[in-house]
Amino acid sequence: MLSEATLREAFSHFPQGVVLVAAEIDGAPHALIASTFTVGVSLDPPLVSLAVQHTSQTWPLLRDRPRLGVSLLGRGQSSITRQLASTDRRSRFAGLDITTDEDGAITLRSAPARMTTSFHDQMPAGDHDLTLLEVRSIESVPGADAMVFHRSTFRGLGDLDG
Ligand SMILES: Cc1cc2nc3c(=O)[nH]c(=O)nc-3n(C[C@H](O)[C@H](O)[C@H](O)COP(=O)(O)O)c2cc1C
Repeated sequence: MLSEATLREAFSHFPQGVVLVAAEIDGAPHALIASTFTVGVSLDPPLVSLAVQHTSQTWPLLRDRPRLGVSLLGRGQSSITRQLASTDRRSRFAGLDITTDEDGAITLRSAPARMTTSFHDQMPAGDHDLTLLEVRSIESVPGADAMVFHRSTFRGLGDLDG
């Protein structure tokens, strides 16, 4: 049996992007920070994926929404990311510059890329659910720098040495 600590240590060597998945429900914003996000699962239709742990209190609220906002976090946004993943769910959006579209999808204005998505499909994946989201609209800032989560730390991307 592989221990969770062994898996987490080895998996931490794989750098991941970090996204904010968010929507307004009954006038209140709800956020989920996720590093299991994958782009380009499909281009036609445009699909992205997300794995959410069964213990999440926020995902059961978000998954039934007609639209979900997805914001890719960029360089310098580690403190925003920590705030959005806070255990104090009510204060996650305090002071943040967000937009909410007519379908309730919330995105972060300062994100290098942001999109609105709709539910496409879902399958159980052990202690997570693996969800496919279809991209409905998307915009990005050319030249913006990414933030990655690597070895349990948020980092900017340096020059790659190939
Ligand atoms: C860097 C980072 C990455 C995370 N990635 C995921 C993820 O991919 N899937 C997930 O279910 N939770 C992930 N979490 C945890 C959630 O953001 C959140 O803290 C957790 O779901 C508990 O909050 P909730 O009960 O409001 O959902 C991540 C947290 C951080 C800080």
